[in-house]
Amino acid sequence: MNNRRPLLAGNWKMHTTVMDACQLAAEIGKCSAAAKDRDVLLAPPYTVLSEVAHVLRDSNVLIASQNVCWEKQGAFTGEISPTMVTSAGGSAAIIGHSERRQIFHEDAEIINMRVHGALKFGLIAIFCVGETLEEREGDKTFEVLEGQLKEGLAGVSQENMEKVVVAYEPVWAIGTGKTATKEQAQEAHAFIRKLLAEMFEKSIADSVRILYGGSVKPDNVDDLMAQPDIDGALVGGAALDAESFCRIINFS
Ligand code: PGA
Repeated sequence: MNNRRPLLAGNWKMHTTVMDACQLAAEIGKCSAAAKDRDVLLAPPYTVLSEVAHVLRDSNVLIASQNVCWEKQGAFTGEISPTMVTSAGGSAAIIGHSERRQIFHEDAEIINMRVHGALKFGLIAIFCVGETLEEREGDKTFEVLEGQLKEGLAGVSQENMEKVVVAYEPVWAIGTGKTATKEQAQEAHAFIRKLLAEMFEKSIADSVRILYGGSVKPDNVDDLMAQPDIDGALVGGAALDAESFCRIINFS
């Protein structure tokens, strides 16, 4: 047993209108009320961050942005600043999601700057790593994870690691319906924790939450969450359906 508090996070990606988002948030807020021994988080699109935060103002659901800039303000068209996130009611930001890395070509340096930006302004950084299918089949999974973790978390202090959550998301499992087996996920999580112990301190590695992401669904969440190094889930598709996400929140 460890004392890491489970975190069930839903990433709505580029989905939901204002109305859809408020309705979905209200339903998720209701079913989260009983989840006292775990954290629940939603990352809605920027356009509905404050509405969703408002709907959930009396709930225990945390709000995150899906990315964040390193500057507080300025000429950064299309970006969102950490203080904009906090002023909208958010307390966390997803950084380095594979869709940002692959579709928008965000590199390790930009991702590292985003991590520092989030931490500087007090946000929790949900830092994502994961290998492609080609990398897994080429036996490069650990090498890729090591590179992403070392580059993405470069310069982060031991103290600031308390505000970092790592999400392991094998790219080949995202949105494909193809989940990593619980053994594959546990193996990667254990590797990440061991590496964090080398990069920081063992006590930090023991307390950092490592989420699994990639086709987490009501029917596989229990098995995944039973693994010793899996501390939560980062959920895409299934977080857009209140019933499915509520089942995931209430994993047993
Ligand atoms: P998925 O997305 O659950 O739809 O696979 C996960 C993610 O991208 O975080």
